[in-house]
Amino acid sequence: MEKSMMDQDILKVLYTEEEIAQRIREMGRQMYEDLKDKEPLFVSVLRGAFIFMADIVRACQVRCDVEFIAVSSYGNATSTSGAVQITHDIQQDISGRHLVVIEDILDSGNTLHFLKQYFLTKGAASVTICTLLDKPSRRTKAIHADYVGFEVPDEFVVGYGLDYAQKYRNLPYIGVLKPEVYTK
Ligand code: XMP
Ligand code: MG
Repeated sequence: MEKSMMDQDILKVLYTEEEIAQRIREMGRQMYEDLKDKEPLFVSVLRGAFIFMADIVRACQVRCDVEFIAVSSYGNATSTSGAVQITHDIQQDISGRHLVVIEDILDSGNTLHFLKQYFLTKGAASVTICTLLDKPSRRTKAIHADYVGFEVPDEFVVGYGLDYAQKYRNLPYIGVLKPEVYTK
C-alpha cells in the first residue's frame, strides 16, 4: 500500500497489524478459559484502549458487558504528570462484579494503580488487568498486569489507539514516531 501522510512520520514499526491480531487471538483464548464462568464486565480506558477493546472482546467470546471510563492523561506531552482524574465514569453499579480493565499501555503504572483501587473501593469482586503493551522499565507504582500483549522498550509509541497529540490513533500498526515530529 502507498505510504500515507501519517506513515511518513513513523521511524519504525514495532508490531504489524497481523502480529497484533495474532497476539490478540492468543490472549482472547486464554482469557476465555479464565473468565468464562465469571460473566465479567470489561472496562475500557478511553481513549487509547478503544481499538484494543473492540478486538479483545471479540477474541474472548464470554458472556460479558462493556463499559468505558475516561481519565485525564498526558495532554500533548510525552511524559506523565502523575495525577489521575476521572473525566467520564462508568454508568452502572459494579458491586460484586468481576472487572477486566482494558488498557492500551502500562507505563508508570499511575493510571491502573489508581483505577484498580477505585473499582475495589466501589465494591468490585475482582479487578483483572489486561494491557496490550507494557513498558516495565518506566514503572513507579507496584502494579501487575494479568494479561500483557507485548513488552515494549522505553520509546514513545503510537498507533492502534495510541496517540501523539490526539493523532495517529487510526494507524493499524504500532510504531515509534520520528523524534522530529514531537520536537518541532
Ligand atoms: P501510566 O504512566 O499511568 O500511563 O501507566 C498510562 C497511560 O499513559 C499513556 N502512555 C502512552 N501513550 N504512547 C502513547 O500514545 C506511549 O508510548 C505511552 N506511554 C504511556 C497512555 O495513554 C496510557 O493510558
Ligand atoms: Mg490510555
